[in-house]
Amino acid sequence: MPTMGNLHAGHLSLIERAREDADRVVYSIFVNPMQFGPDEDLDGYPRTLESDEAALGKHGGVDLLFLPDLRTIYPYGTDSAVSVSLPPLGNDLCGASRPGHFDGVASVVLRLMNIVMPHTLVLGDKDYQQRVLLQRMLEDLHVPAAVVSAEIYREPDGLAMSSRNGYLTAEEREVAPGLHAELGSVAQALRDGACDYAALESVAMANLAERGFRSDYVSVRRAHDLAPPDVFEAGDERIVLAAAWLGKARLIDNIRV
Ligand code: PAJ
Repeated sequence: MPTMGNLHAGHLSLIERAREDADRVVYSIFVNPMQFGPDEDLDGYPRTLESDEAALGKHGGVDLLFLPDLRTIYPYGTDSAVSVSLPPLGNDLCGASRPGHFDGVASVVLRLMNIVMPHTLVLGDKDYQQRVLLQRMLEDLHVPAAVVSAEIYREPDGLAMSSRNGYLTAEEREVAPGLHAELGSVAQALRDGACDYAALESVAMANLAERGFRSDYVSVRRAHDLAPPDVFEAGDERIVLAAAWLGKARLIDNIRV
């Protein structure tokens, strides 16, 4: 399973999910420059290999820890790399404010898959759009591997665990679970029968602003393909997703309904 390291309990929970399906578990840590925009946190992204190795060891270990260097992944360098171009969903939601991000993710995950050749790719549902896009990539490019997803692992107060939570100040950390709380309110309204999706989204955005977030989006979509409400059909599982900034941290979360 691919990661960028700075491992937390959410990353480690993927190992249990993998063991349900696989005899052997390969874990990779590689901070992929191709998925960071020019103004994003590539240089500051936390690199904590020693404690990551210790955490994996304490957790019972994995069968192979793959720590490729840049040249192994991109033999021709990142400027001349062959790149995967995803369908329009790659430029929607998180992709709208992070141009090229998901193409960069797909470009590294396909390389990792071609090197490791696993039959299963384990991904966390915290990065739900990433999971949907990678699943689509594997199917569309006939890569003989299936995606298995792991539920979002949360702090006791509801905050989804993320390497970027480390960017939060103590005060912001107190505010951060508000993102999950707002998504919870939208999810409850949907369960109660609300169907004015645009109104639900704008109320949630306003509430997030009041709590101190700069929200990027709150969006209700169809769960399996992230299609927008105008194509919903009766019985479709829905999902409410959000991305919001708190100080230097861009937080994402989602709840399925
Ligand atoms: P990274 O953010 O390190 O996440 C690695 C994997 O851990 C992803 O599948 C992500 O969804 C999962 N994960 C992170 N936090 C989680 C949580 N709280 N609960 C459950 N799963 C969680 O996502 C990436 O790295 C990169 O884009 C990558 C796929 C490795 C490509 O570079």
